Amino acid sequence: MKSIKTIGMITSGGDSPGMNAAIRAVTRAAIANGFRVMGIYRGYEGLINDEVREFKTEDVSGIIGRGGTILKTARSKEFMTTEGRKKAYKVMQKRGIDALVIIGGNGSLTGARLFAQEYDVPCIGLPGTIDNDLNGTDLTIGYDTTLNTIMECVDKIRDTANSHERIFFVEVMGRDAGFLAQNSAIAAGAEAAIIPEDSTGADQLEQFIGRGIRKSKSSSIVIVSESPKCGAMYYADRVKKEYPEYDVRVSILGHLQRGGSPSAGDRILASRMGVGAIQALMDGQRNVMIGIRNDEIVYVPFSAAVKSDKPVKKEIIDALNILST
Ligand code: F6P
Repeated sequence: MKSIKTIGMITSGGDSPGMNAAIRAVTRAAIANGFRVMGIYRGYEGLINDEVREFKTEDVSGIIGRGGTILKTARSKEFMTTEGRKKAYKVMQKRGIDALVIIGGNGSLTGARLFAQEYDVPCIGLPGTIDNDLNGTDLTIGYDTTLNTIMECVDKIRDTANSHERIFFVEVMGRDAGFLAQNSAIAAGAEAAIIPEDSTGADQLEQFIGRGIRKSKSSSIVIVSESPKCGAMYYADRVKKEYPEYDVRVSILGHLQRGGSPSAGDRILASRMGVGAIQALMDGQRNVMIGIRNDEIVYVPFSAAVKSDKPVKKEIIDALNILST
């Protein structure tokens, strides 16, 4: 195996709070261990277009508390083609980049997996996504901050919901995963969460109404996972039609959920994972995502990390049902 001298670093896909902390950790751990580090701008798109420059320790000063990513990010369609990946490999050869650290979510690590199958390039992934939908790690970078952001928003919505005695459907991000919805509902004391993982087949709106919440409470908040067909608007429209006596409103939180200064939890997670990525390369690991399980760093093969079946625990679903009565 070719020895590694220079490591390229990319943030890709949707940004998440803590990506900068990860960039800082990768840069400093790499330099501390004698590697050169190249920052690649705008995700895989920037690799294809040779938007690359060397990063020194001072380039990552003062960024640990900043949201977003100083490397910028993109969702590259071109990298999903064999031709695009070929162009990216050529840039790596030209720049003398021997290994890649990719900070991103499901799509980004799927791209890394394909790249690593075609070219002899060690790739290490860091789970950077607010969705918490990567397998093999308890938490992903950004998830904790976003949970806190949603909780703060819902606390505020609660004030107006109470005053007007309304039902609010609050839509949160998560793509196909309900972690954000389920756990923010618990944190904010919401009356229900509607998530894609609920496999009971029961009508989740009927279950919520059936619990007789309006009898005992003057307002209700239902957190709804985003969905092209069954988002917050869908449920609000149904309540308006089926239960016209209720005063209903919708609040779609949108991209504010991805912004803001990362929580202590995300900064520590990103820092440990960034150091772990460089250690993984020194251990001869390739094509794995760094995870943290039970507070230990673990190496998760890309194929396992990107499987879309990370469960929301039934115990957490049951807990919300008990606590919201
Ligand atoms: O994967 C992160 C995420 O924020 C998802 O929760 C959401 O579905 C998606 O990205 C939104 O992507 P975009 O910023 O491209 O609209």
